[in-house]
Amino acid sequence: DIACVNGRFGPLADAVVSVEDRGFQFGDGVYEVIRTYRGRPFAVDEHLARLERSAQALQLSLGPSKAQWGTLIEEGLRLSDLPETKIYLQITRGQAPRDHPFPVPLLPTTVLTFRELHPLDVLVRQTGVQAILLEDIRWGRCDIKSVNLLPNVLARQRAKEAGVFEAILLRDGVVTEGSVSNVMVVRNGTIQTAPEGPRILSGVTRAKVLELAKKEGIPVAETMVRREDLLGASEVFLTGTTVEVLPVVRVDGQAIGSAVPGPIAQLLSRRWEALVG
Ligand code: PDD
Repeated sequence: DIACVNGRFGPLADAVVSVEDRGFQFGDGVYEVIRTYRGRPFAVDEHLARLERSAQALQLSLGPSKAQWGTLIEEGLRLSDLPETKIYLQITRGQAPRDHPFPVPLLPTTVLTFRELHPLDVLVRQTGVQAILLEDIRWGRCDIKSVNLLPNVLARQRAKEAGVFEAILLRDGVVTEGSVSNVMVVRNGTIQTAPEGPRILSGVTRAKVLELAKKEGIPVAETMVRREDLLGASEVFLTGTTVEVLPVVRVDGQAIGSAVPGPIAQLLSRRWEALVG
């Protein structure tokens, strides 16, 4: 596996940043996860655009330009030479003596890692997964893909301990998103999902799946989905770089529909395969 720290490539095992890096001490940074399909990185422009938005929201610069990030991605893929790759990009506010205000001068730390991507088990995809509901305890800017992932980490760990795949988060009884994915439900033939805004990450997969749905003539509503709407939905599914389109068949042990992947999730999963294949 390969890593790149501030433009220098080397084995991932040898890659290091300072213990005084603000990413380490303050979680002061932003990140992206991109995957390859057939060896080619998917939706790079969308991910880099979001990285730039996240960075700007924290008054951080992108560091390398988008074109330079693109070149770094290509170089890392060439060096790592894996069948499929999970590409991790991170920008932090750099190394400085620990003090809350931004350091002057500011020298951001940029990191890329390239690791083999292990696709989700086909059987899991066919049978669907289970989820639990948890209170969304995150901050007011979940649209920023910041490296502060403690609430997401705790939620996913709770899911793991419950023996299920994902934790679906609720704020004031309304579904926001999953700990690592966006959440969609199907009610009366309409796909409903939380609108973009500070409560959710604007998923690259979410946008593409909504487009695919519209092309299929499936109505889409970006609207509040309450806990009871989700539990009474005919289908629930997750979207995300790592999960793609993944049906959820039970939530908190309760069956969604007949507890099997529904027709809309299955259709969109096939359309997704065609899009990326
Ligand atoms: N997470 N919501 C949250 C909270 C996420 O962390 C992610 C992705 C998504 C889906 O976004 P996209 O479709 O752009 O991947 C939604 C990445 C994969 C991660 O943290 O590993």
